[in-house]
Amino acid sequence: MLKTHTCGELRASDAGKAVTLSGWVNRRRDHGGLIFLDLRDRFGITQVTISDDSELDLPNAANPSNGSGNSSSCTQAHEVASQVRSEFVVRVNGSVQKRPEGFENPELDTGEIEVIASELEILSEARTPPFVISGSQGDEVDEAVRLKYRYLDLRRPKLAENMRLRHEIVRFIRNYFYERDFLEVETPILLKSTPEGARDFVVPSRIHAGRFYALPQSPQQMKQLLMIAGFERYFQIARCFRDEDLRADRQPEFTQLDLEMSFVEAADIMALIEEMLIKLSAKISDKPVQQTPFPVMSYDEAMAKYGIDRPDIRFGLQLFEVTDLVRNSQFGVFKNAVAAGGIVKGVLFPQGADLSRKEIDGLIEYVKPYGAKGLAWIGLTGEAAADGTYPAESLRSPIIKFLGKEEIAGIVSASDARRGDLILLVADEEGVTNPALANLRLEIGARTDLISSDLLAFCWVVDFPLLEYDRDEDRWGAIHHPFTSARDEDWSILEQRPADVKAKAYDIVLNGWEIGGGSIRIHRSDQQMRMFQRLGLSESEVDEQFGHMLEAFQYGAPPHGGIAMGIERVVALFADAQSIREVMAFPKTATGTDLLLEAPSLVEDEQLAELHIAVREQEESAK
Ligand code: AMO
Ligand code: AMP
Repeated sequence: MLKTHTCGELRASDAGKAVTLSGWVNRRRDHGGLIFLDLRDRFGITQVTISDDSELDLPNAANPSNGSGNSSSCTQAHEVASQVRSEFVVRVNGSVQKRPEGFENPELDTGEIEVIASELEILSEARTPPFVISGSQGDEVDEAVRLKYRYLDLRRPKLAENMRLRHEIVRFIRNYFYERDFLEVETPILLKSTPEGARDFVVPSRIHAGRFYALPQSPQQMKQLLMIAGFERYFQIARCFRDEDLRADRQPEFTQLDLEMSFVEAADIMALIEEMLIKLSAKISDKPVQQTPFPVMSYDEAMAKYGIDRPDIRFGLQLFEVTDLVRNSQFGVFKNAVAAGGIVKGVLFPQGADLSRKEIDGLIEYVKPYGAKGLAWIGLTGEAAADGTYPAESLRSPIIKFLGKEEIAGIVSASDARRGDLILLVADEEGVTNPALANLRLEIGARTDLISSDLLAFCWVVDFPLLEYDRDEDRWGAIHHPFTSARDEDWSILEQRPADVKAKAYDIVLNGWEIGGGSIRIHRSDQQMRMFQRLGLSESEVDEQFGHMLEAFQYGAPPHGGIAMGIERVVALFADAQSIREVMAFPKTATGTDLLLEAPSLVEDEQLAELHIAVREQEESAK
């Protein structure tokens, strides 16, 4: 037998038992006549003590009743132990012994005992690993090295714990939906293009020359078809594939909790998910949920107060707008931005009025990537005069000379600034000002320690616009996807005022991450057709891409809706991981490569020929 117990299992009550353990050598300490091995498996670490039995008299070790005192076998074990190195795989026969008083290790679950080895066998030797595996080191190791040796990285306690947590979360989710009569259905991976807004990964067909499958960006169409099939409550832990630019919270291949229900409204789905998230949080996290029921915010409110549709509401520092105040300003930056249809908004840096010039200039780095051309700032170093205006000596700012007294008083009042605060303003079109300030707000929150890492701040964002105008393509596109329904009252303005149409869509946000999104769908063929037309699809395009959906709606489609949640994002947030790569067994790099398998890779010419594919010369030359 290779093991009778795991390395995390033995306790004082097991003392005297003959056991066999197998695992990795986490650490070896050689004290000459005595060698200690910390033996590790998935379940924990057990100390194994190996004596050469010559001069050292182990307390209780020579108990004749369990045979471990046999001196010739101890010598064998000791000889083997002296060859053993970290990460060797070994099997130990021995007996459990309570550690002598004062030698217990409270940091190990098995710290009350040790196993006195009578026999030791090396099952597999190990080269010196490229990074330290035991303990909490390893985070500072270059991620490329960690990804190339992912099987070693996954041995590290932190990653192993993340994978265990992911397993617990998925198990909880599955049970939650099983208990509520949801049917788990697998949908195809070889599919046709699904419109979720990203590029598709495509797979060439060998049998059908020149044709391609697309990998699903989500099971969106399939789950809607399952509703038409009458399944009523579907869920799946589903793989999704999106060929998009990657970030810390995006991978080309990821997993969703995907669900769909019939005969429901948005509130039903939101309540179901909210209950799941509250129960999940209680089960797997010590952190309190900031507020229940979860706050529900409209998209407009989120954009106004946070500049983003996934607000981190763990802290305040809400944005404020001064567009109307500065419309006729002498300060050209403000006036011109407003005249061009832009907005002027700001955020406070609490007690930031005395930041050095360098620090203030440094803040601009947080708005620049969003296209902001600058950051106007006003430090409130003193008090207002009796009439409510601010004398020059109460202010520190390079722009006060351009601003009127009333203007300044108005900005201070809109910002709610107090003495010592720094007001930061951006003037630009909405699409620049909002994301720039949203990012700056997060940076200020982090710098001033306003963001608690011990809170779970969930919120819903609702009433999204249905459509957004795509300037490059000069047409309207769906913000969510084209199957999302407009609010009932907005269908009448779909053609005339597309910008004002709101969707029956909802996003769930946790600590500033969008962890899920869904909607109530269109379930009538005529409305779906209107939607496709609104999106500028010709009849033949509709027919070619979505004819099957329109046809399906003609055979009795129930009202339905659903949601999908990013499993990696949920796990990363509960694991306090900075990137979803930390909660995936085999993630890809930021450029979409698998460093372990070295994918994507070239394929043989015959394989390409079979697939009716020719690679262009310039790529060929890379071979
Ligand atoms: P959506 O596109 O909003 O909706 O995706 C749902 C959730 O999936 C996660 N997610 C990702 N996670 C990691 N890497 C990615 N590249 C990635 N892209 C998305 C996010 C997101 O909130 N079919 C619809 C859902 C529906 O309407 O029911 C959909 O996929 O957490
Ligand atoms: P300038 O007139 O370009 O020297 O800018 C004067 C001040 O306004 C500087 O502090 C700039 O950083 C700031 N500024 C420039 N453009 C913007 C803008 N679009 N929004 C806010 N402040 C700006």
